[in-house]
Amino acid sequence: MPGFSRDSAGRAVFGKCLISSVLQDTRVTTPAYLYDLDGIDEQAQALTRVLGPAGLVAYAVKANAAGSVLRTLKEAGVGADVVSGAELSLARAVGVAKERIVMSGVAKTDAELDLAISAEIRALQLESVEEIARVAARARAQNRSARVALRLNPGVSIATHSHVATGHDKAKFGIPLSSLDAALAQLATHQELRLVGVSTHVGSTLMETAPYLQSARVVCDIAQGLRSSGKSLEYINFGGGFGIDYGLGQPVPPSAFADAARSLQKEQGLEDHQLVIEPGRCLVGPFGALLASVIQSKRTDAGRWLMLDAGMNDLLRPALYHAHHRVEALAAPPAGEPWQVVGPVCESADDFGSHVIGHEAPSHVVVRDAGAYSFSMASNYNGRALPCEVFLRHGQLQHVTPSPGTASWVEARLKA
Ligand code: LLP
Repeated sequence: MPGFSRDSAGRAVFGKCLISSVLQDTRVTTPAYLYDLDGIDEQAQALTRVLGPAGLVAYAVKANAAGSVLRTLKEAGVGADVVSGAELSLARAVGVAKERIVMSGVAKTDAELDLAISAEIRALQLESVEEIARVAARARAQNRSARVALRLNPGVSIATHSHVATGHDKAKFGIPLSSLDAALAQLATHQELRLVGVSTHVGSTLMETAPYLQSARVVCDIAQGLRSSGKSLEYINFGGGFGIDYGLGQPVPPSAFADAARSLQKEQGLEDHQLVIEPGRCLVGPFGALLASVIQSKRTDAGRWLMLDAGMNDLLRPALYHAHHRVEALAAPPAGEPWQVVGPVCESADDFGSHVIGHEAPSHVVVRDAGAYSFSMASNYNGRALPCEVFLRHGQLQHVTPSPGTASWVEARLKA
């Protein structure tokens, strides 16, 4: 699959485009996110193929909510996992069918519940016993029934950064197994609620399938139990979390997670249920890159720095999770002594780490694997503009969204 590569002359290529030629387009300003829509399409098709027409790949929209990305995924047969009313409205606006949308979230507002109920999405995935009565009340107020699923917290810990582990006992997410009976009892008292699924999500950046399958088995047990008591569900949802290669080692490929999920469904005799998975990162992460200009270098006795026009406001992951993203020059593969690569923001955490780039400071660099949780977590911190976005398709610049600049920020802050 494409994403980042180098041609025979060692020049950086993204998708099918030479990055240096993308820079020559007058619409492109740095910092700019580049997206390889062909790669996204290919990855999405690979996953939908494994699940087959009866399965549902519900893309976690929070990873990257760009319209061009969502349209590409929808065309590849992917649905949506949304976590806010705005994400739901966006998914509907790009044409994702209502029965292909699930909604998660520990604290959905009444307005969000109303929106999801009236949109008749596949299911509201409920994350606490307390949420059940709230959804029932909103459904009654609309004189409708609501399709709901229980998102379980399987009590499984995974080896990942604590900020992206969600399925352990102390996490705020999901209904703990010890509360399952109470949740089912609550549901039974509300005629306006229809239980259609059970879901889980154990966490992000999984490198192997074992913890994923461990929590998926919990979902299977519950579905089997409900079926034998005559309350069959429509779907079982094992969640997302498939890791990608950030340059520190190749995790199991995304299709292997989907394969393992499908095999487990068969092994557990649950083919009368639809299999749902909720990948976010693996569909977009490798197919995004952050292109930055080098503003200047700095040398002291302590070392040398490469200072970019992109910072933690554009790409928060290194500051928030100590995440590693490879930083490379455009003209040639990595060489020489390392540079400490930093952004312009007034924070020590605004640091992309130490990278072998080149002997001399290049004019531009590319920060790799920045398609997921990157633009979607960008901010105006330090009065900095949100970056430009460039969408590549079939070797062309299909679309460029310019940076909004800083004048609107100055004006808005003035009025605050
Ligand atoms: N389903 C649920 C309920 C989720 O909470 C998430 C991600 C996903 C699916 C998709 O997980 P993925 O396949 O993308 O790993 N900002 C962090 C990641 C936060 C993940 C939040 N939940 C990062 O940059 O690593």
